[in-house]
Amino acid sequence: MRPAAMSRPRILLIAGSARSRAFSARLRDVALREVEAAGAEPRTLDLRALDLPLYDGDLEARAGVPAGARTLRDALDRTDGLLFVTPEYNAFPTPLALNAFDWLSRVQAAEGAPGGMAVLADKPVALMSTSPGAFGGMRALALMRQYLGGAFQMLVLPQQLAVGKAGEAFDDTGALKDARLQQSVADIVRRLVALSTRG
Ligand SMILES: Cc1cc2nc3c(=O)[nH]c(=O)nc-3n(C[C@H](O)[C@H](O)[C@H](O)COP(=O)(O)O)c2cc1C
Repeated sequence: MRPAAMSRPRILLIAGSARSRAFSARLRDVALREVEAAGAEPRTLDLRALDLPLYDGDLEARAGVPAGARTLRDALDRTDGLLFVTPEYNAFPTPLALNAFDWLSRVQAAEGAPGGMAVLADKPVALMSTSPGAFGGMRALALMRQYLGGAFQMLVLPQQLAVGKAGEAFDDTGALKDARLQQSVADIVRRLVALSTRG
């Protein structure tokens, strides 16, 4: 069940990267500061720390869903909105992200806790991407929109942002050098926070 919106909405920020020092984590942190500036409560989740094996139907039949999938379910259940920053691997979102959300979709409601699909249905999500390439991962962005909006029935914000040439995009303080891109992050976050405040 969707948690009741609070006066200070909780926004979970996830970067779909499979490496440390990730560009997507840097963009996530730009967004995190804007979440704070918008008066909302940011939280982050490291998908790698969930330690989820590659989805395996035999493993699921034998041992059920791994604990990391329930950890992801709980984190998403405790948030009013999601901001997801995806890298791009061969025009796709990362296997790390897809695998985590595929496992999430297998979590069933039990002992008063909701199922994995239920915690995302009708929940707002804002999408961003970044990559060293000129297009900034926008092909992965389109697929994340389809995945989270189509399969998980999330409310995907129409506004999105792809930050290209990631190697040169951030200054020493972690901000985006291009003021228009920085403003886009702020605008998207403000819209997400406003949507996440709805009852
Ligand atoms: C398997 C693989 C495929 C990649 N494919 C693309 C791609 O299609 N488009 C792109 O812009 N960058 C691509 N890259 C480069 C990534 O954008 C780059 O490694 C980036 O740093 C990953 O994001 P992160 O820094 O958030 O981890 C690819 C990298 C890997 C490892």
